[in-house]
Amino acid sequence: MGDNLPVSAPVASEVQAMFGEIAPRYDLLNRLLSFGIDQRWRAVAMREMDSQPEQQILDLCCGTGDLSLGFADRGCTVTGADFTGQMLPLAKAKAKRAQLNLRLVQADAEVLPFGDNSFDTVTISFGIRNVHQPKHALRECFRVLRPGGKLGVLEFFPMKPSIWRTLFRFYFHHVLPAWARIFRVGRGGAYRYLPKSVEGFVSAEGFMNWLHEAGFEQTRSIPLTGGVAHFQFGVKKNPHG
Ligand SMILES: C[S@@+](CC[C@H](N)C(=O)[O-])C[C@H]1O[C@@H](n2cnc3c(N)ncnc32)[C@H](O)[C@@H]1O
Repeated sequence: MGDNLPVSAPVASEVQAMFGEIAPRYDLLNRLLSFGIDQRWRAVAMREMDSQPEQQILDLCCGTGDLSLGFADRGCTVTGADFTGQMLPLAKAKAKRAQLNLRLVQADAEVLPFGDNSFDTVTISFGIRNVHQPKHALRECFRVLRPGGKLGVLEFFPMKPSIWRTLFRFYFHHVLPAWARIFRVGRGGAYRYLPKSVEGFVSAEGFMNWLHEAGFEQTRSIPLTGGVAHFQFGVKKNPHG
């Protein structure tokens, strides 16, 4: 087992199969299960990244493309990449409906098919926790970013003991899988995987260390909704700046 593998990390093909299965109902379930808060978290990510029109954005683990479309709406040139083939047509259809342009690429975050220094910004929302070897993906993000480019990561990390954690553990372990069964999403398996994958993942502080190890500086971590999710940020060192 690699040094950077969370103990519970499922193999990539299992993750792919699981997201392939839930893809058609992914957006509906996301909105219902998070009461729409997931969109507010993405809005925070957009604001913090402060991307400008014409900039080259890579939205990694893009899923159905919510964050990709937010950047495209700002006039950025957006590439959405995900390794689950079933997600990409859904992102494409949403882009078409919104009359926005997205370049969509099926790609594994651990081996990106892009040249060095190709993007001004890389974002990953609720994706890095599912990547088999997340540190490899962070190194790839660093490689494809131009010097001075920004990485923004939205993610759930294990919560510190608090009343919020008690409430969310109950919600994650009991309410969420029940909802998923009612909506017949992935036979409930995907939403049983969610709490396990969060609890088995590195802490928010540990993830900041991973960002440093991958070469990022000016790192920041912003807790969202009482620490249920975090937005983490880093900049690729600019040797000339
Ligand atoms: C929870 S979804 C998040 C989708 C989207 N970013 C959002 O905010 O709704 C996680 C996505 O990560 C993708 N993913 C997981 N591991 C990946 C990998 N190694 N390479 C590329 N995509 C991956 C899955 O296919 C899935 O679409």
